[in-house]
Amino acid sequence: MKPLLVVIDNNTALANKLLASAVFERGECEVRQFPDGESYVRVISECSGRDIVILCSLYQPDRFVMPLLLCAETLRELNAKSVGLIAPYLAYMRQDIRFHTGEAISSRIFAKLLSAHFDWLVTIDPHLHRYRSLAEIYSIPHSTLSATSLLIDWICKHVNQPLLIGPDSESEQWVAAIARGVEAPYLVLNKTRYGDRDVDIEMFDFSRWKQYTPILIDDIVSTGQTFVKVIGQLCAQGFNAPICAAVHGLFVEDAEKKLQQAGAQRIVTSNTIAHPTNELDVSALLIDAVSKHLI
Ligand code: R5P
Repeated sequence: MKPLLVVIDNNTALANKLLASAVFERGECEVRQFPDGESYVRVISECSGRDIVILCSLYQPDRFVMPLLLCAETLRELNAKSVGLIAPYLAYMRQDIRFHTGEAISSRIFAKLLSAHFDWLVTIDPHLHRYRSLAEIYSIPHSTLSATSLLIDWICKHVNQPLLIGPDSESEQWVAAIARGVEAPYLVLNKTRYGDRDVDIEMFDFSRWKQYTPILIDDIVSTGQTFVKVIGQLCAQGFNAPICAAVHGLFVEDAEKKLQQAGAQRIVTSNTIAHPTNELDVSALLIDAVSKHLI
C-alpha cells in the first residue's frame, strides 16, 4: 500500500507535485482554528496499519506546530504504522546558542519536541551554523537534503559569468559548494547582526569583479535586510542589478519589495515555502529521500 500524504501547511503547489509522482496517496485531514485560536484536527482517511507522511513546511512554526502535533498523535492513536515528517523548511534552527543569559536555545527544544512525535524527518538545507549536523539535536532518523544542485543548474542556465557572493560566514557552506558546481568565483562577506531587522555588511571592494554578474546566495531570506545591504554596496560601486537567490524565501513583512527597491534584478527561491519567486523545485529530492525512510 502507498504511504498516505497528509498536508498540514498551505504549500499546495508542492503537495500537488508530490502527489503527482504516484508515490503517495492523498491523506484527508481537516485542520482549522476555533474562534479562540485553538486548533481543530480531524483525520478523515483510514490510517490503521498505514505509513503516514506529513508535509508541513515550518515557515510560520507557531501557527503550524500545534495542528502538526495534534495530527501526528491522532494518527498514532488510530494505529498508523509510522508517522514521518517532511518539513522542507525547518524552523527554529537559528537560535543555536544562548547569546544572553536566560535565553531559550530554541533549536534544541524544538528538535526534542519533533523527535518525540515523529519516526523520521526529511528537510532541506537546515540552517546549520554551530551544529555540524542535525544529529546533534534530532534523535530520530533524518535526511538533510540540499537544494544546491538545483541552484547550480539554475545559474548555469540563466547567468552569464556569475560571481557568487555569500553575505556572511554561515553562507560559505552553500556558496562554496555552488561555486564549485558552476565553476565560478565566489566571495564571502562579513556580516554583523545588531538586531532582528538591523544588520551591517563590512565594506568590500568589488572593483576587480566588474565584468561579472553578481548573484547573492543565502539559505534564508527573511526580512531581506542582509541582501539589501549587499545590493547597496554593489550598486554604489557601479554594478548592474544583482540576482538574489535563497533556498528558503520567508519574505517577512515587505521583504520582496525592499529587495526590488534596493535594486535586485531577479529573486529566486525554492518551493520549500510557497512564493511567486519559486523557480527551484525540490519535490524530486523529497520523494527520493522519503522512499529511503519507508523501506
Ligand atoms: C542567518 O544567518 C541566515 O543565513 C540569513 O542570513 C538570515 O536569516 C537573513 O535574514 P534577513 O533576510 O532578515 O536579513
